[in-house]
Amino acid sequence: MSEFINIALPKGRLGEKVYRLFRDAGYECPSIEEENRKLIFENPEKGVRYFWVKPSDVAIYVERGAADVGVAGKDILLEYAPDVYELADLGLGKCRMCVAAKKDFRDRGERTLRVATKFPRIAGRYYASLSREIDIIHLNGSIEIAPILGLSDVIVDIVETGKTLLENDLEPKETIVPISARLIANKVSYKFKHQQITALCEQIQLRCR
Ligand code: PRP
Repeated sequence: MSEFINIALPKGRLGEKVYRLFRDAGYECPSIEEENRKLIFENPEKGVRYFWVKPSDVAIYVERGAADVGVAGKDILLEYAPDVYELADLGLGKCRMCVAAKKDFRDRGERTLRVATKFPRIAGRYYASLSREIDIIHLNGSIEIAPILGLSDVIVDIVETGKTLLENDLEPKETIVPISARLIANKVSYKFKHQQITALCEQIQLRCR
């Protein structure tokens, strides 16, 4: 196994914040800050190799050991339940998983509730806990449109500022679970690169309190 610690970061705004956290914790990799379209960056001096991957794919890279550690949203961890260790809550990317619907919608429990979502397992578990019968409509994005077009009664989706709901005449009805970014580790890497991973985790945690 290489001496590098391989780190999968979620590509996008959250990933940039996460990289700055790692950098400030002593794991800098200056080439990652250059403007280009590369996806892999390494700094042999610090023994780090970073990859930019699609946020929902971070857990796959980590679970299969292509990355030793990574940063994934709690939403992804709850939805896909990857076989990884969750080491720390980074306190970044804070948002919540909500049920939302049109302002005038009330669930009277008269018929099967149609639920549009990118998160069928989270939605399924939530309504199972309420013993509410539902029909899941699994979409991949722009979920807010579903109740407007009559495709669903409610949506289960991430709410950060609430702006998307507001601008589409929807409102949050229930919070299912708070969400934030988590540091995760591959189980084998955690054993064989234990010292490196725990040192990284400690340095990161010092900076996210
Ligand atoms: C997420 C979510 C909402 C929006 C909420 O979408 O699905 O649409 O952010 O943010 P707000 O409360 O601050 O308005 P994302 O940007 O991940 O895009 P997607 O729906 O295409 O996946």
